[in-house]
Amino acid sequence: MTPAARAAAAIAILDGILAGQAAEAALIRWARASRFAGSGDRAAVRDLVFDALRRRRSRAALGGALSGRGLLLGLCREEGADPATLFTGEGHGPPALSAAELAAGRAPTPAEALDLPDWLLPLWHEALGAAAEPVALAMRDRAPVWLRVNLRRADPARAAAALAEEGIATVAHAELPTALRVSEGARRLSGCRAYREGLVELQDLSPQLACALLPEQGSLLDFCAGGGGKALAMAARGAGPITAHDIDAGRMADLPARAERAGVRIRLAAPGKVAGRFDTVLADVPCSGSGTWRRSPEAKWRLTPEALRRLLSVQGGILDQAAGFVAPGGYLAYMTCSVLSAENQGQAHAFLARNPGFEPVAERRFTPLEASDGFYLALMRRR
Ligand SMILES: C[S@@+](CC[C@H](N)C(=O)[O-])C[C@H]1O[C@@H](n2cnc3c(N)ncnc32)[C@H](O)[C@@H]1O
Repeated sequence: MTPAARAAAAIAILDGILAGQAAEAALIRWARASRFAGSGDRAAVRDLVFDALRRRRSRAALGGALSGRGLLLGLCREEGADPATLFTGEGHGPPALSAAELAAGRAPTPAEALDLPDWLLPLWHEALGAAAEPVALAMRDRAPVWLRVNLRRADPARAAAALAEEGIATVAHAELPTALRVSEGARRLSGCRAYREGLVELQDLSPQLACALLPEQGSLLDFCAGGGGKALAMAARGAGPITAHDIDAGRMADLPARAERAGVRIRLAAPGKVAGRFDTVLADVPCSGSGTWRRSPEAKWRLTPEALRRLLSVQGGILDQAAGFVAPGGYLAYMTCSVLSAENQGQAHAFLARNPGFEPVAERRFTPLEASDGFYLALMRRR
């Protein structure tokens, strides 16, 4: 596909997303209907779409419209490229720009340049203070890819060597050597042997750093296990026995296969059927995902004040429920992939205020400025 044809595809996909389609679903639908597109084309179109979503507000201002065409015109103007190179009006390229389109567009206001919705700005500033602008700007760029070395299968040096044999270059984190940043070849990961044989798992740096702060040994309940990323990380560090639970059992469907690949044992509990007490209970609750908007940029624009209010109420309820499974002297680890105070300190501090039987042990918030995704951990202990 020519660059112009890729732009035309991105424009159509973005229009679908702006009309309410989920980004991944819209990309898959396009790829299925476009057998002529090779893997390089699919990757390029995906990048155009996700880059546009990360910078939706500022690009719409620059391009003069919140539409697929406006966002791609905004890209040209942001990069100082001649729009006529993409809007060719020839072959499979987008139709040439009209005089009205060429006349539209302006520099983004300071608020638009942060690429956040207006309603969120006060919460963002309140949560991040002096880091508010740099973190917002970081969210406009692509996230790095991080791997977690599975110590049950390999040490970091062996895992890195196995990846390198397949053209995937990595750099180990200075303080957490089991965390490898992929510096080259990320697109080869899913098919590579090191991944298929469980030497490494895809996991962002921030949750890896957070899991490293939890007690290594003892029984563990992952109360909101989802795909099981945290349960697998804790199993690889030596915790056990491990029980995974989720209100939606379907979310854990891949966990048995992932555990087998990783060479660890994880018991699944049916929804609402957890029994007993545990040395550590992990509550990785549903949240706004505001720390992960580099990876899921459409979520940034779909979040509403009402949805955030609902999440806050769900989070508080889960914390209270999860606390009931903590053994005396045991730990409750509350986690979100958000940077917003109400979802983080707000929840943890309110929980401690209504549960004097628990005391705070550690609290960490990560942002893309010091780790990778935004993430929060509050570690509490039952007295
Ligand atoms: C942030 S995701 C968990 C991600 C997962 N821990 C991982 O590392 O891959 C939150 C999960 O909480 C689950 N959930 C929502 N409400 C719940 C509840 N009341 N009890 C238990 N799980 C719940 C959701 O189904 C979702 O899978």
